[in-house]
Amino acid sequence: MKIVVIPGDGIGPETMAVCDEVLLSVSKRFELNIELSHESAGQESLKKTGATVTTELLEKVKKADGLMLGPMSTLELGQASKGEINASLFFRKNLDLYANIRPAKTYPGLTKRVQQDFDLIVVRENTEGFYADRNVESGSSEMLITPDVVISLRRITRHCCERIARSAFILAQNRKKHVTIVHKANVLKIADNMFIDICHQVGKEFPDVRIDDFIVDAMMAHVVRAPDQFDVIVTTNMFGDILSDLTSELSGSLGLAGTLNAGIDFAMGQAAHGSAPDIAGKNIANPFSQIISAAMLLNWYGQKHDSKSFIAASQAMEQITLELMKSGQVTPDVGGNLKTDEIAKAFIKQLQMKN
Ligand code: IPM
Ligand code: MN
Repeated sequence: MKIVVIPGDGIGPETMAVCDEVLLSVSKRFELNIELSHESAGQESLKKTGATVTTELLEKVKKADGLMLGPMSTLELGQASKGEINASLFFRKNLDLYANIRPAKTYPGLTKRVQQDFDLIVVRENTEGFYADRNVESGSSEMLITPDVVISLRRITRHCCERIARSAFILAQNRKKHVTIVHKANVLKIADNMFIDICHQVGKEFPDVRIDDFIVDAMMAHVVRAPDQFDVIVTTNMFGDILSDLTSELSGSLGLAGTLNAGIDFAMGQAAHGSAPDIAGKNIANPFSQIISAAMLLNWYGQKHDSKSFIAASQAMEQITLELMKSGQVTPDVGGNLKTDEIAKAFIKQLQMKN
């Protein structure tokens, strides 16, 4: 398996270095023959090439079997036409990675922010919605009408709703068989009623899966009050972006939030958190979301190629993550005292203890 690794901005190089060591150690242990090739995107690439991402990089990535993308500083980016492109969006759009899959669960040994234990997945549409740089073929769907008036458009299509709904039901079928649709159909009546209808139509193919739905604002209260009532939550792009930060923080920390951005032929592992420039270079960032994202990538590859060893490797990565958390071998943000790079050593030690 050829994986392109892009460390990214801020804490990215530190957390991705841990992830590299983890990937190479499981590759050796499970004989996966993983090859990592490092490329740059984001601020480093902007300095070197004048653009945060390039078409040459996209071509290299397309030739690989998967991508690990580090966090990107996006807030200060200028105009896309001047090369200041948001790399996350660039890869999601250009590789058609339509399913943004974000598990959030509590871990024994870690302090969670709610009383209940829970285990849920947010399945977020990734290619349209309220994302001005993604939902039009060229240009942006955000327009400055007069210096004081802006219009930002949200695109919802049957095709994208159908495929994201199907991703959610497939996941639910192998879990607690429950899909929750999150929407704002009381206000976005046409678009979000279409989203709900399509989810129900797709749901007919999965008769064992129970379906319910919540309006997005009320959902914030429900998920805080009773996160254990949810299994798979399916929603449009921006609602899912916001909700998934909440669910990961409820589980203990945004630093635990792994993501898989999956399309039909390609997938990208990417932590759900940002580049955290305030703690960059201090060796204290939590690398677990990166490790969990990498485990998801190996699992995706294993399912795609029907490879038991990739699936076993991904399960071992999850298992070791659990063990490290249970024994308090974690970074300070979740109550431990290990440095970022010490997580790699702890992981490898735990891996060697397995027969
Ligand atoms: C995420 C991020 C991105 C998004 C940003 C970096 C564009 O918040 O992956 O959740 O909004 O999708
Ligand atoms: Mn986000």
